[in-house]
Formats: sequence, structure tokens, C-alpha cells
Amino acid sequence: MARVGVAFGGRSVEHQVSIRSARTVIGALQAAGHEVVPLGIAQNGRWLDQAVSQRAVDGDIDSLGVVEEPLAPTLENLLDSSIEVLFPVVHGTWGEDGTLQGLCEMLDLPYVGAGVGASSLAMDKVLCKRQLESYGLPVVEYGSVSRSSFEADPERALKELPELPFPVFVKPSVGGSSVGVRKIAGPEELPAAIAFALGFDNTALVERGVSGRELECSVLGDQQLQASAVGEILPGNPFYDYEDKYLLDAAELKIPADLPSGLAERIRSLAVESFAAVGGHGMARVDFLLEGETGIFINEINTLPGFTSISMYPKLWEEAGLSLPELVDRLVEIAISVHRRRRSLDQGIKDWLAHLEG
Ligand SMILES: Nc1ncnc2c1ncn2[C@@H]1O[C@H](COP(=O)(O)OP(=O)(O)O)[C@@H](O)[C@H]1O
Ligand SMILES: [Mg+2]
Repeated sequence: MARVGVAFGGRSVEHQVSIRSARTVIGALQAAGHEVVPLGIAQNGRWLDQAVSQRAVDGDIDSLGVVEEPLAPTLENLLDSSIEVLFPVVHGTWGEDGTLQGLCEMLDLPYVGAGVGASSLAMDKVLCKRQLESYGLPVVEYGSVSRSSFEADPERALKELPELPFPVFVKPSVGGSSVGVRKIAGPEELPAAIAFALGFDNTALVERGVSGRELECSVLGDQQLQASAVGEILPGNPFYDYEDKYLLDAAELKIPADLPSGLAERIRSLAVESFAAVGGHGMARVDFLLEGETGIFINEINTLPGFTSISMYPKLWEEAGLSLPELVDRLVEIAISVHRRRRSLDQGIKDWLAHLEG
């Protein structure tokens, strides 16, 4: 059993969801016999002490507001926590995108989930699509527009996009929770949608709109990745937008999705192949779009998926026979073995150099 720090909250729009996810993760870690240290991160990135963090875990507070202190000294709350493993439950930017993972690497601290490279690649939709394409994996036709080209000459930037039939979806390349995402019916709306998306990231992604079903599959593992059952999201709104995710409570999860077994198998193997293609280990929820009966596309890879008791990621594993405590325990175990392997690679380099120096 390990002393596990659970980091939650943070600077992204998913701050409050992260606190709800952390409550579930903490309960499950404790049920599995681990000792938990709650590590709340305020909305402006300050690390909070255990007493305040615990209040969020207990449900006394629902968000960790702005803390008027310089950031660096607050890192002591992490540095002095004597944890053996960090479980980041911080969705979105500064949590899911490789930055928190990089901090752990610098501190030589084992951490749950994908590493720095896989996290940042999965977080950037344009880079991720290019990577998946290079592996021959199916993604929806797309183009991208950089801020510099759009600001220099918007007409030319639009002309350089591939011809895509409408409707199209326009999104910030780096983002989440459907923030900045718009569905566009015709070309006249395109410039405003691109400008809107560029308000959230330096690159906008323009993608053919797929009319069909939204399917999700959970992946877990270290060097051998495994896929769960396949689930379906039934959005309450015309698409699964921010309001639908967090405000309306009208979307439904269907577990398992009603699919012919051959198609479900194909989705499960695509989920594993796509997470492997970005160099992932630990966990990911891979999201798909299904067009017609067989047109399957990988929409995105989430390396820190929602982890509340009703979230798709843990629910899909429950369906596969893996309880929440078993799931988080396996994730901690993977974190420790990844870290051990990383250390032995470092040692390999040092041994090689020592050998050269004779
Ligand atoms: N190409 C597309 N075709 C159809 N629907 C899409 C497409 N891209 C996005 N959507 C809709 O928008 C939602 C949010 O887009 P997504 O790429 O998943 O961004 P986020 O990372 O913000 O979740 C999806 O869940 C889906 O409902
Ligand atoms: Mg999504």
C-alpha cells in the first residue's frame, strides 16, 4: 500500500468537476487500503494545505477560489507531503496536458496516467490527429488555421483550408469541455467561428461534421493496454456542448452501447491502437464518432477523463468487472512500475557513459 497524493481543482474550466472526480478517486483509494493526502489546487494555481483541501473533499466547499499568495512557496504543500505517488485528477490545461506530469518528472515522483509527451500530444487535437493519421488510424477530414496566418490574411487562411462539406465543427486545438466549439452551417459563419476558437488557443481546428453516434471506450494498462466495453453518449443538446456537459443534466450514458459485436470489437482495438500511437500508458478514454453503420472515426483521446462515480471511464470498467478500488489500485501500481522503468533507463545511460569513460 502506498501514500498517495491526490491533486485536484486547478486552473482549467473543469475545476469543479475535478473536485467531484477527486472525491470518487479518494474514496476508492482508501477502500483499496491506500493512505491518501488531499492536495487541492486553487483556481489560480496555488497549492493548498491539507486542511483546506480536505474541506473540498468533504463537500464543505465546491471550489477552491483565488488565493492571494505568490505561487512558488505554496508548492511546499506538495513538496512536504511525503507522498510516494501522485494521482493527478486535474482535467484540462495545467493538469491533463503534460505540465503537471513534467513537474512530477522533475521531482522524481511516480504519478498516475500518461507521461509528458503522450499527455501533451493527446491534448492538442491537431497534433494528435496528425499522429493518428501517420499510424493509418481513422480521423474525420480536417484542416487547421493558425493565429498568425489568420491575423495576417484571413481570406488567404480560409482559402488554404481543404474543402469540407457543411456543417463543420470549429474548435480550439487545445481545449476541453467543448469550450470554444461551434457547429457551423455555412461558409459565412466560418470567420467568426475561427476567431472565436482562436480566443482559446493559437490554433483552430476545422472538421467535417459527422452526423451519427458518439461512442467512448476506456483504456488501461502499462506496456500491454486493455480496452473496456464500449459506451454511448446520448447528448441532450444538438451536440455535446458545455451546457449539455455541465449545466443541463439531460445527456445520457448508455453502457454498454447497443452495437453489433464486430463493430464493438473494432472500436475496442482502435481505442488501444490510438492510445498506443501517442505513446500512452496508464489510462485514457478514447472518444469516437460513428457515421452510419460502419464509418468509425477517432474523435479525441482524454488522458485524465472524468472520474466521478457516474463518469464513463470508471463505469465502463465496472461493466468489464473491475471495481473502482481495483481500478485505482491498478493505476497506482502502473505508476510505480513506469517510474521504476524510467529510473532503470536513466541508469542505463549513466552505465553507458561510465563504460565510455573507461
Ligand atoms: N466532427 C464532428 N462531428 C460531429 N460532432 C462533433 C465533431 N466534433 C465535435 N463534435 C461534437 O462536439 C463535442 C465536443 O467536441 P470535442 O472534439 O470532443 O471537444 P472537447 O475536447 O471540448 O470535448 C463532441 O462531443 C461532439 O458532440
Ligand atoms: Mg470531447
